[in-house]
Amino acid sequence: MDIEKDLHDTNLKLTERDKSMLAGDYGAAVRMAMSILVQMAEIYRADTLLDISAAHIDSTIYIGEAGLEYAERFAELGAKVAVPTTLNVSGLDEYRWKEWAVPVDWAEKALRQMQAYASMGTIPTWTCAPYQTIYKPAFGDQIAWGESNAIAYANAVLGARTERYPDLLDICCAITGRAPAVGLHLTENRAGEILLQLSGVSERIQKEDIFYPVLGTLLGKVAPNRIPVVEGLTVQPTEDQLKAIGAAAASSGAVAMFHLVGITPEAPTVEAAFQGRQPRSQIVVTPDLLQETYYNMSAPADAKIDLVAVGCPHFSLNEFAELALVIGGALRRGERRHPDVTFLVTTSRSMLAAAEDAGYLESLRAFGAKIVTDTCVLATPMLPPNVKHLMTNSGKYAYYAPGMLGVEVTYGSLEDCVRSSITGKNERNKFAWR
Ligand code: F3S
Repeated sequence: MDIEKDLHDTNLKLTERDKSMLAGDYGAAVRMAMSILVQMAEIYRADTLLDISAAHIDSTIYIGEAGLEYAERFAELGAKVAVPTTLNVSGLDEYRWKEWAVPVDWAEKALRQMQAYASMGTIPTWTCAPYQTIYKPAFGDQIAWGESNAIAYANAVLGARTERYPDLLDICCAITGRAPAVGLHLTENRAGEILLQLSGVSERIQKEDIFYPVLGTLLGKVAPNRIPVVEGLTVQPTEDQLKAIGAAAASSGAVAMFHLVGITPEAPTVEAAFQGRQPRSQIVVTPDLLQETYYNMSAPADAKIDLVAVGCPHFSLNEFAELALVIGGALRRGERRHPDVTFLVTTSRSMLAAAEDAGYLESLRAFGAKIVTDTCVLATPMLPPNVKHLMTNSGKYAYYAPGMLGVEVTYGSLEDCVRSSITGKNERNKFAWR
């Protein structure tokens, strides 16, 4: 395709350095990355490209031959990233995949894809929660991140600026250090659009972890592709609770940015969150609405549980601490995991090492919990076919698992998950939303 000719039909203005990259002066890999980036920038109707200071690559997940070929093509051309670049989950737990149902040929290809991205000078974090590593971006940083939950967290909670980078484009930004100057990179596109006012949602509810995936799911449903603003939170959510909002909202509604008034950095007030504009619509969030959302996140089943899966997004050190506390308490009461239930935690290598150092893994191992790093149940074909009912405390797993894995899902608290793994039955508490 004749890039130079097509450029005449667009408003995209390239710097001399951009043109030089496009002409191949920086090598074949940069040329290929820049040619893809330019074509995508035209589709986005960008006027310019901008410099980025970091990238996070979601293309690492093996989903087929094309993505593998793409990664290996870049690797063969000697591609190297131009900015600090973390890697999202892959399609394989490199060290434990044989303990699961992962087909050998899948494992070989997923591993090749990991090796291709690792060869580009990237940081092999292999996690969907890069914001819980030392590579967390700062307020105002222009970055190119893939992975929907990470995008929402970066924009909303950190005040960094990234569009929703799709697979394959993310690595082009990383190699060139450039991104289209559109969307959430620009201040005017970061204003709130829909106002959600909490009404009658007590501090007791707001302090519970179970509240946040429900709130996130609701945000995604009422503000798909919009920027929701939540007013009325009176407690300071934890980092993991904020993570849970973004993950659920990005799943149920492709939300890439949200504001929590008085909490997230671009929303000190309602006016600031909306940049002085009027909301397109307003919704009152009552305990009844939360309860309805909560019930809709689960199958209407009272069935036996086959798998408890926690760690979506990847488990943090604090979440390991909490789980160790809950499981430790159960073990002291003489309770044991039901032999027919698998208890799975998905996390990153670095968080697993930190949990080991902190002594959080002893009770998990005594309970027979399994831990998987680098990937998760949605990114690798690890589950055996006898898994029919999955229980989780994750809004994202709850949203995607029925469609992607063909299983029934029950969403509940971490305590509910542990209790269910002991009895083998759905033990979800009827959480009191009033
Ligand atoms: Fe991460 Fe997999 Fe969830 S990539 S966000 S653990 S679906």
